[in-house]
Amino acid sequence: MSDIEAQTREMLRTVAEAGDMAALEAVRISVLGRKGVLTELMKGLGSMHADERKVMGPVLNGAKDELTAAIAARAQALHAAALDARLALERIDVSLPARPEIRGAIHPVSQVMDEVMAIFGDMGFSVAEGPDIESDFYNFTALNIPPEHPARQMHDTFYFNEKPGGERLLLRTHTSPVQIRTMEKSKPPLRIIAPGRTYRCDSDMTHTPMFHQVEGLVIDESAHMGHLKGCLIEFCKAFFEVETVRMRFRPSHFPFTEPSAEVDIGCRRSGGELRIGEGEDWLEILGCGMVHPVVLRHSGIDPEKYQGFAFGIGIDRLAMLKYGIPDLRDFFEADLRWLQHYGFAALDIPSLAGGLSR
Ligand code: PHE
Repeated sequence: MSDIEAQTREMLRTVAEAGDMAALEAVRISVLGRKGVLTELMKGLGSMHADERKVMGPVLNGAKDELTAAIAARAQALHAAALDARLALERIDVSLPARPEIRGAIHPVSQVMDEVMAIFGDMGFSVAEGPDIESDFYNFTALNIPPEHPARQMHDTFYFNEKPGGERLLLRTHTSPVQIRTMEKSKPPLRIIAPGRTYRCDSDMTHTPMFHQVEGLVIDESAHMGHLKGCLIEFCKAFFEVETVRMRFRPSHFPFTEPSAEVDIGCRRSGGELRIGEGEDWLEILGCGMVHPVVLRHSGIDPEKYQGFAFGIGIDRLAMLKYGIPDLRDFFEADLRWLQHYGFAALDIPSLAGGLSR
């Protein structure tokens, strides 16, 4: 028995001395593997006398438990040590000054968001927000898109796995759910914009699976389609920093607005550049319309008393047009050279008084 105790102590020592996971695994196999020392000893139990087995059984099982626990503890210690070493190696000193050859810049999307907020802020809009992960109700049903409505298919929605209760959350396909959240929370008159990320399963030169929109919502007792049109024309002139912009209001359909329109901006693609205000091409930049009475009612607002308009502008499209960026996918490549070419100085904050893009 003392012999087994001595052997166990020796095996425990080799466990404690294993310097890495490979060494520890080798020790484990030599002790507890199919041909391991302890395994062999335990095999002997079967041929023992009952009296002897009564003594040896608990001793060997005890040794096995002790060794198993020691191996697990050693593995954990080795893991922790490896993690500490890696953290020490990958430590980043965030207080160091920026390296001059890697100059950060404001991404065109952030720049355009700031410009859009400056323009609408000047028109008296405040900024509202909503979550990227939405419920079916806010993204569709409350916007007059009931289940089985064909418009749901057009949205190429990213869904999450079903929750135990059967609810299926989704990544919002537009910023329009913020309309509902705003109307639920506050009483008219309302004048808000809601910039943010939106998601659809789509990818080509003018579509990416994650993109950006800014929603606009105006609700009072008299806002009408003329106000909507005037507001958007003023916005485009201010945004593109020109006296006139080629714009086209096309009749369209959205379940949450009636009547509805889509707006295109005149542009031309040539020599790998996108130019605004020239040529015969059109790029769609926004959808808009008068908020549907059903949507007002869903949000607790009396459509007999209040009315208003909403719009949803594609931020990335605006950036492409204003800054001549031909392919939307480059926005999200995280290529430093691209950012240095198209990016903006961090301290130039856009304002109407100080200039938007200068
Ligand atoms: N939510 C619509 C879209 O993403 C745009 C829109 C917003 C249309 C508000 C009308 C009113 O396509």
